[in-house]
Amino acid sequence: MRIIDIINKKANKEQLTKEEIDFFIENYVNGNIPDYQASALLMAIRLNSLNEDETSYLTNAMINSGDTIDWSYLNTTIADKHSTGGVGDKVSIVLCPILSALGLTVAKMSGRGLGHTGGTLDKLESISGYNISLSDKEFKNVVENHKMAIVGQNEKLVPADKKIYALRDVTGTVESIPLIASSIMSKKLATGSNCILLDVKCGNGAFMKNLEQAKKLGNLMIQIGKKLNRKIAVEITNMEKPLGRAIGNKIEILEAVETLKGNGPKDFTEIIYSSGATLLLLANKANSEEEAKKQIDEIIKNGKALEKFNEWIKSQNGLVEEIYKEDWFNPKYKHEIISNNEGYLKINSAIEFGLVAMKLGAGRSKKEDSIDFEAGIYLNKTSNDYVNKNDVLFTLYSSKPIDKNLSNDLLNKIEFSNKPFEIKEVLTKLM
Ligand code: URA
Repeated sequence: MRIIDIINKKANKEQLTKEEIDFFIENYVNGNIPDYQASALLMAIRLNSLNEDETSYLTNAMINSGDTIDWSYLNTTIADKHSTGGVGDKVSIVLCPILSALGLTVAKMSGRGLGHTGGTLDKLESISGYNISLSDKEFKNVVENHKMAIVGQNEKLVPADKKIYALRDVTGTVESIPLIASSIMSKKLATGSNCILLDVKCGNGAFMKNLEQAKKLGNLMIQIGKKLNRKIAVEITNMEKPLGRAIGNKIEILEAVETLKGNGPKDFTEIIYSSGATLLLLANKANSEEEAKKQIDEIIKNGKALEKFNEWIKSQNGLVEEIYKEDWFNPKYKHEIISNNEGYLKINSAIEFGLVAMKLGAGRSKKEDSIDFEAGIYLNKTSNDYVNKNDVLFTLYSSKPIDKNLSNDLLNKIEFSNKPFEIKEVLTKLM
């Protein structure tokens, strides 16, 4: 078999066989296929796509490129949840302890943020001591004893994705639905979970800019899951505006804690109830969405969800007590953006808020950048809130002096109207 023949086949819009896809992955990972040939094949795939079978073969080949985790000895449902990445997305930090408190086991590997999207790992690392790099044995111990853990991607899992993603990033081949689907699904399936919710973010702040693309990605991932014997559900959720009111790291942990106490922002709380109900139904822990939402409501109101959060953070060596101290979130610089207008606010860009948060220090523009855990944005007003003249719209925080021009970047992306408008948080669910 020769890689040049495989490239030509895909360039001519022909279907690749399982053997050809296995050959590509095996030989690219072991260094026999150089980056320039892999790039040519990835571009042919971006332009001519892969069908469902080819995408499943690719996912399987990527899973087989490294180790996999087997939880079957626990004889239980292992739940997982993955988001395609957004702004203000702290869903895992709230949803996982809720599910765990309701009897599901959650073993989750998460990623860091890059560019305008924040990463769950960075947010968790803003808590002193929190260890994202548990050994395989420690990961298993925490999951067995506490019924949940969130760690970083294990280097030995899906090495093919690591190598291919780095190449896609610099060759214009990220934006391919089958390549995104196989990248996400290979990592989820290698982690050994058997009940997975995929939160496909949709809007200007996300990879999928419109509902049609998001549905295509969601359906493709469901089909791959079916072929590989896992239960998958997809929720397509709004990323036209940031999720919740907090964007950053410590500031998002505080919002997560408030949500676990039942005081979360309306949009974020709606996503938590919706995603939680979908996973409880998928795992056969509830008979209807209504019943599932009631279970979530109870576990928040009786304090067990927050108790589980505290237990989980401690189990991964995080100093959870510190986050309840008044001065834990203590940014040196603060700048309030004041409104010159009045009316119902509409935020037109999640991405701009993510970029401003990144410029304040909350995120990275390059992988090597370090993070300022104090940096971020608080939306004193969000979409559909009524704003009076001179009200504080947004507050910017940082450990370094704040460039006042950042205010204009945000003010250019909002508008006011004299009537509230409809916002849908969950655009659609696919199962
Ligand atoms: N997230 C991933 O893990 N992979 C992609 O290709 C895109 C988003």
